[in-house]
Amino acid sequence: MGEDGTKARHVAIIMDGNGRWAKKRHLPRALGHQRGVEAVRRLVRGARDFELEALTIYAFSTENWRRPDEEVSDLMALMKRFILSDLDEMAENGIRLKIIGDYKAFRPDVVELIEGALSRTAANTGTILAVALNYGAHDEIARAATKAAAKGAITPETIAAELDTADLPPLDLLIRTSGEERLSNFLLWQAAYCELYFTETLWPDFTADHLAQALESFTRRERRYGGR
Ligand code: FPP
Repeated sequence: MGEDGTKARHVAIIMDGNGRWAKKRHLPRALGHQRGVEAVRRLVRGARDFELEALTIYAFSTENWRRPDEEVSDLMALMKRFILSDLDEMAENGIRLKIIGDYKAFRPDVVELIEGALSRTAANTGTILAVALNYGAHDEIARAATKAAAKGAITPETIAAELDTADLPPLDLLIRTSGEERLSNFLLWQAAYCELYFTETLWPDFTADHLAQALESFTRRERRYGGR
């Protein structure tokens, strides 16, 4: 419990440092991403212990298309493999998969797999694993504002109701690994009042213990939402 009596319900993570993890070991970047997926798996397995309602992870940004073709296709392959290998376990553990961002821009085989995974876990009531794919906050806010305008007045509430995260609890804590301290177009709207947590740990080294530490730090913060 935090000083204000709340417990983190929704945590988001910018999973940074896969490349540097690999470089330090003179390994290919792809292996860093592969180890990054293993870190995702560890957290998803531990999600229930943390009693999180939602975990949102930044897997592929609208800017990541600028990476070399080979790296983009390595990331796609890893995502496919992750769904194929882990979907059963996630489904059995009550995880509900959700995608934020415009994933339909991905290759048809990837889109098909994603949609299968979404429908397979749709009725689950455990932790929501929201994966940001082809996601950028500017794009999300522009899409939401367009939808809000089509329905009537544009207000903070009508925009928020159209965001990709509209059905998730408010964002409590945003973690970024690898020592970088920026938001990189991730959940800009949702981050208005969330707590930020930066750690030097590179993403492939991130464990459930690191998440526990971040959550523990959250409980010690006092959130005032502009009041006093
Ligand atoms: C940042 O490391 C990481 C990414 C751009 C991709 C994150 C993707 C994964 C962890 C794997 C895919 C996820 C799922 C759900 C299967 P970086 O390459 O920018 O590292 P660097 O800054 O050290 O170069």
